[in-house]
Parts: sequence; C-alpha cells; structure tokens
Amino acid sequence: MTKEELDSLMDTQWAGRNIVYYDSVDSTNLRIKQMGDEGAPEGTLAVADKQTAGRGRRGRSWDSPSGSSIYMSLLLRPKIEPDQAPMLTLVMALSVAEGIMDCGDSCGNPDVKIKWPNDIVYQGKKLCGILTEMSADMDQIHYVIVGIGINVQMTDFPKEIQNTATSLKLVTGKTLLRNELLAKVLEEFEVLYEQFVSAESLKNLKAEYESRLANKDNRVNVLAPSGAWQGICLGIKEDGALLVQREDGNVEEVIAGEVSVRGIYGYV
Ligand code: BTN
Repeated sequence: MTKEELDSLMDTQWAGRNIVYYDSVDSTNLRIKQMGDEGAPEGTLAVADKQTAGRGRRGRSWDSPSGSSIYMSLLLRPKIEPDQAPMLTLVMALSVAEGIMDCGDSCGNPDVKIKWPNDIVYQGKKLCGILTEMSADMDQIHYVIVGIGINVQMTDFPKEIQNTATSLKLVTGKTLLRNELLAKVLEEFEVLYEQFVSAESLKNLKAEYESRLANKDNRVNVLAPSGAWQGICLGIKEDGALLVQREDGNVEEVIAGEVSVRGIYGYV
C-alpha cells in the first residue's frame, strides 16, 4: 500500500482526494484531529500501514501491526446538528460492508453483517471497528473524524480478542489488496454520505442498512446500565436508534453509546 497506488485507485470526487500516508503513526484519528484544527478540507484522509497508539471505542486500544490491516481516518465537515453526528458511524459501517461486497471474488464474497451500530462482522466475529470523534460547540460542528480499522490479512490477534476477532484473509482464504478495498469503501461512503447529509437522517439508507443488520428479526440481549433485558430486534429508526420489541409488545428505541446489544449466544 502506497500513497501513489491509493491516489491512482481513488475514484471519488472529494472523499480521500487529499491523502496523508504514514508508514508508522501514533493514531490516524489523532493526525486527522490535528489537520482538522489546522483547517484541512473535508475529505482529507489519513492512512497508515501501522499505528503505535491505535485507539478503539470506550477507551480501549486497537491492535495495529504493519502489513496486514487498513487503518484510516476521514475528516468531515457536515452541515448538520452536533447530535446528528453519531449517525455518521452507521453511514460508514454500511459503506464498509458494501465496499467489501464490491470487491467481489477478489475478497471471496463474504456475506458480512453489521452489528449495530457500527461493527462489521462475519460468522460471529468482528472484521472492522469504527471510532467517530467530533469537535463541536453546543450548536455547531467544527469537524468529525471517522476512524476505520479493517482486519484484512491479520492472522494473529491479541489473546483478549482471539475469540471475537477475525480477518478477511481468515474467513475467505483470499489475499485481498488493502488499497483496492480502501478505495471501494470511500466510493461507497461518498454516495451514502451525500444522501445522509441531504436528508439529515438515515431515511434513504435505512433499508440497505437493515438488509445487512445482524440479528434482524431475531432475539437479542440488550445490556443497559439499568439491567439486561431481551427482545426481538426489528430494525433501525431514521435517527439510528435500534428498535427492539419487548415480550409485552412494547417497542423500545435503543440509543447507541449507552448500551450494548448482542445476540443471545455470544458477541454478535
Ligand atoms: C472499535 O473499538 O471498534 C473502533 C476501532 C477503530 C480503530 C481505527 S484504526 C484507524 C483509526 N485510528 C485509531 O486510532 N482508531 C481508528
């Protein structure tokens, strides 16, 4: 993966048109944050072969060895309200899932799913994580950083995630080129992002997202701070909340961040 290869493959108008490539970096999210503060344009993309301080959600780290995965962060300056920004994570999750499907045979055509709100999974294990961060005032977004880690050719995972993580190489046996997938994800994202920003909701993406939603119409465990409960996962709302029907028939809107939702048999 090189900047020149990425530049030549990128078939987008603005997303990933200004690529900053690192052989090794602390975290692409941190680099994009700095570029955001310095006024870099929307669509600026940081890509690294290796991260020394990769960051995951909920303060976790993200294992980021060289030569095997995609680590990238995209700078966005959407004209939406700050409380709408979390929906961008769902837009990116859908773009990654579609990008993987677009790679077709070279990727082994795995029928990947989205574990709401934003993990990409295959057969019960995680292939990709997304970390969205924002700089904003009460009423105005300065910029949003969407950071994506995709396990492409990784075969060794740290002990803590061995049972829950996998890679495209492990699930398909194929050696997919990282730059090909990266370019497909950004092509998908550019289209879906524009649909999202113009509607200021996920209304145009809802059906496509639900077609990839793991556990749709199945029983799920909702792990909320107030206690765990079970219900049937019905789909998502236009604002990104997950709709789960309780045994008494009531439909709850589950908001990302506060809770974790799993199938009843494990991580996904
Ligand atoms: C998760 O915990 O599921 C989110 C992981 C996000 C990892 C990516 S890798 C590229 C970008 N830079 C980071 O430091 N984190 C994100």
